[in-house]
Amino acid sequence: MEIRTVLHMFDPMPHVSPFDINMAVDAGFDAIFPYPNVTLEQVHGLVQDAIFSRGPSGVKRTGLFIGGRDLGLALSMLEAARKAMVPPFEISVLADPSGGFTTAAALVACVEKQLAEKHGLTLEGQHAIVFGGTGPVGIATGVIASLAGADVTLVDPFNIDTALEKAKEYNARCGSRLKGTYASSDADKARLIAHADLVFCTAKAGIQVLNADVLGDATQLKVAGDVNAVPPLGIEGIKAKHCGEPLQHAVHAPGAVGIGALAVGDVKYKLQNALLRYLLSSEKPVFLDFREAFQRARELV
Ligand SMILES: NC(=O)c1ccc[n+]([C@@H]2O[C@H](COP(=O)([O-])OP(=O)(O)OC[C@H]3O[C@@H](n4cnc5c(N)ncnc54)[C@H](OP(=O)(O)O)[C@@H]3O)[C@@H](O)[C@H]2O)c1
Repeated sequence: MEIRTVLHMFDPMPHVSPFDINMAVDAGFDAIFPYPNVTLEQVHGLVQDAIFSRGPSGVKRTGLFIGGRDLGLALSMLEAARKAMVPPFEISVLADPSGGFTTAAALVACVEKQLAEKHGLTLEGQHAIVFGGTGPVGIATGVIASLAGADVTLVDPFNIDTALEKAKEYNARCGSRLKGTYASSDADKARLIAHADLVFCTAKAGIQVLNADVLGDATQLKVAGDVNAVPPLGIEGIKAKHCGEPLQHAVHAPGAVGIGALAVGDVKYKLQNALLRYLLSSEKPVFLDFREAFQRARELV
């Protein structure tokens, strides 16, 4: 009988995300075990408890998923898991806290594709702003776009210190070159959007961040992407299914196009599914984060 596949799901939060459990089921794992409230210090012991029981062929049928809402903690847990392996007893690991790595990778890949198709440009040197930029999806979006060559500013809705701290923390951790600022009013947003080539909207669900008036201040905007699928959507005029439709309210930015949450979500679903399956299909153990996610997302779009 073939050895059954197992996914252990570590999460520092009180609940493992039902979204991620559904994704693990859809990826075909036979048995899925959620572990809530896992601390960084516990990862080493838990991993070593998971790797020895099934023999060298069993480890290839065993995977580990790391969730939570804190990207830095998830990256530290991924590293702790990697260090806990004892070859040949090694299992593959995917970190995707708050869906941040796969959602951000899908968003940036979709924007990059529209930028190339509609404007003949790459991300290199593009001025990008990330609204909701201090949340998990926003930080991952900023890091991925920055590492791909864009000049990225994370925007916090209330506090410049939060934005500057997050930018500093993730630049040190990931090698990105993020900047930080805040925008608490439409006037602040208009000031930022006037000089943006790209807008990523990764704010809390159900909040309209950019209205038609603010979009009227865009002059060099080329592509805007929104990941909020809960009405009201994040950017007025971008519908959830839009994928390269003209951004109707950006009247002074000819050629600007929009990407909506369901278009991004379609890529995100395929991407997370592919990464979960890769945990089992890879010959050698793999340790996957936003880097692998973006590489795969580029292939998918
Ligand atoms: N399409 C997809 O496939 C997909 C997949 C996953 C997630 N999502 C969406 O991605 C978005 C981001 O997820 P997340 O987990 O990072 O969200 P989150 O943590 O709930 O919020 C993201 C950021 O939005 C900020 N924010 C709150 N109120 C705001 C306002 N009025 N204006 C601008 N920003 C505001 C938050 O700031 P504070 O922390 O200060 O409140 C936070 O930094 C959500 O809309 C989520 O539904 C989409």
